[in-house]
Amino acid sequence: MDELLSPEQLLSSLTQIEEAFRSDIAKVATLADLQQVRAKYSGKKGLVTAKMKALSSVPDPVQKKEFGRRINELKNFVEDSLKGRELLLKEGEQERRLLTEKIDITLPGKSVQFGRTHPINQVLSEIKDIFVSMGFGIEDGPEVELDHYNFEALNIPRDHPARDMQDTFYISDDVVLRTHTSPVQVRVMEKTKPPLKIIAPGKVYRCDADVSHTAMFHQVEGLMVDTDVSFGDLKGVLELFIRSFFGKDTPVRFRPSYFPFTEPSAEVDIGCVFCKGAGCRVCKTTGWLEVLGSGLVNPRVFEMTGYDPARYSGFAFGMGVERMTMLKYSIDDIRLFYENDLRFLRQF
Ligand code: DAH
Repeated sequence: MDELLSPEQLLSSLTQIEEAFRSDIAKVATLADLQQVRAKYSGKKGLVTAKMKALSSVPDPVQKKEFGRRINELKNFVEDSLKGRELLLKEGEQERRLLTEKIDITLPGKSVQFGRTHPINQVLSEIKDIFVSMGFGIEDGPEVELDHYNFEALNIPRDHPARDMQDTFYISDDVVLRTHTSPVQVRVMEKTKPPLKIIAPGKVYRCDADVSHTAMFHQVEGLMVDTDVSFGDLKGVLELFIRSFFGKDTPVRFRPSYFPFTEPSAEVDIGCVFCKGAGCRVCKTTGWLEVLGSGLVNPRVFEMTGYDPARYSGFAFGMGVERMTMLKYSIDDIRLFYENDLRFLRQF
């Protein structure tokens, strides 16, 4: 309807808009209010915008110029006021957020619990590291094993009394849960030509449970075969291992023993870690603790795996990882390893 207004009316309508704007902007309290005022005056359909459009319909050039100047003034005033107001509101908003969202850095934080390697795995890694540093490779075998590998091929036939030494879990007549890691020796010899130098760490199972036995535990098997392997090599390797693992001044002794798969066989003892050899309840007053079984590979085992016993000799050994860990850290109950009590596990 602006086209119908006289130039005086047009000018006075600008004054009205300016007054209305001053009163509106004075009432603005939030950024949302500001947005509304901006739309009302300088938006696409705003009051000031409409006046700018009406400019073209003023016929008299002098009046047009004067009118244009006034509209521009009004437009600049409106825009400057809006901007100024916006800045103030934003500052206020920031201050409000700083106040309401501030964090109390003196409050104690939530601590993150770190997991750690199980003591058995720590000791397993340590044992592996020592043998790998002596040039041994690492081999693996199945936990569900054929009777043949677990017993027969290790010179433990069906009627052999040594079968009773290892209370076996039978899966079927000729399948067992392996009772030791020794079957890996046979599997490795079947697939590899000598010379060889390996260890085979892994889980083994026996139907047995008390303070020093669990139905599942870990062993590390060792096997070295070459043309001239002697008992001296066996002693050298195992002494070096034991002194690396238990400390360089650890007393070590080899005691004659019997295993069907080695001949001669020896059990290896270390000076009792509890009484330092003086004799105590743990070492049954002998001053010595048994740590592993060993011996020179029985020629019958070589024959069964296809190695020529006239040409090759070798040594083998086997140790219990739980036992090694208990001796190293003076732990008196094997079940602690499998109860998942964090108070115990966090000590390692
Ligand atoms: N397999 C035996 C056991 O579980 C340990 C052992 C003894 C392994 C003598 C050997 C060895 O390789 O030569 O009690």
